[in-house]
Amino acid sequence: MWVSKAPSNIALIKYMGKKENNIPCNVSLSYTLEEFFTEVTLEQTHNNCDQFITNELSESEKAKFLNHLKYIKDICKFCGFFAVTSKNSFPKSVGIASSASSFAALTMCAFKAISDIQGSNIPSFEYMSTVSRRGSGSSCRSFFSPWCIWKSDKAEKIDIPIEIKHEIILISKDKKEISSSEAHKRVQTSMLIEGREKRAEKRCRSLISAFRNGEWNKAYQICWEEFWDMHALFETSDPSFGYFLPETLNVLLKIRKFWKKYGDGPIVTIDAGPNIHLLWRKENYGKLRDMLVL
Ligand code: DP6
Repeated sequence: MWVSKAPSNIALIKYMGKKENNIPCNVSLSYTLEEFFTEVTLEQTHNNCDQFITNELSESEKAKFLNHLKYIKDICKFCGFFAVTSKNSFPKSVGIASSASSFAALTMCAFKAISDIQGSNIPSFEYMSTVSRRGSGSSCRSFFSPWCIWKSDKAEKIDIPIEIKHEIILISKDKKEISSSEAHKRVQTSMLIEGREKRAEKRCRSLISAFRNGEWNKAYQICWEEFWDMHALFETSDPSFGYFLPETLNVLLKIRKFWKKYGDGPIVTIDAGPNIHLLWRKENYGKLRDMLVL
């Protein structure tokens, strides 16, 4: 039996809008969430099909997963079959999307198993990342820790000298009505999509330099603009859609007030859902966090 584990990640510059084979329309930058990981196991079977033997996923999610396994087997010209299990270190109820960690873990595990059986070397993380991207775009960033930059067909580690404490403000654990795959398509109908690539590129450059120069306040401002940019794309699509709930906005207003009062606070970002991610600087997490009442 083969086992692989991969972390989830949260993007501060968002992957939104894609071309063929999950090539992103714009650059993205993410922070790896080590505590939120997926563990995948593969075991060879004598049945003549791949099988899923865990029940955490819906039928369509399972099909997408097994399809990706088949894609890797085809690349490796491998004809055997596997029984697959996938388990998250975190419950669905924490509101973290598991597709990044699960596709990265599946990719690693499939290459590990097949290389072992075929007596070849496991490919590099760089290569596995590009293969994983085909399964789910954001999973290609989960190969590079703690910070990753992804542009076109290449994700890579980037040096950012800040220690982070990550926190999720859970607003709702309901499954989202519009999947991120659907969102990627729909945002193309928004008038605001024009210039999106350039805006993401510019913010990405400014964010990296803000981090490197210790300009935390500036980093917060850039990330704030960036998640609003993505959510504005959603709201101005045709037909429009959105993920914020009233409570999302309440928390955002409290955080903005907090920043105004103390001149410091957490970086805020929101993915395709209503839940809020906070990134604190580790060194002042305790002191500041105690003062934020949500
Ligand atoms: C909003 O990676 O889930 O989380 O490539 O279709 O599987 P597919 O999309 P996915 O998109 C994630 C979009 C996002 C922003 C981000 O993670 O950068």
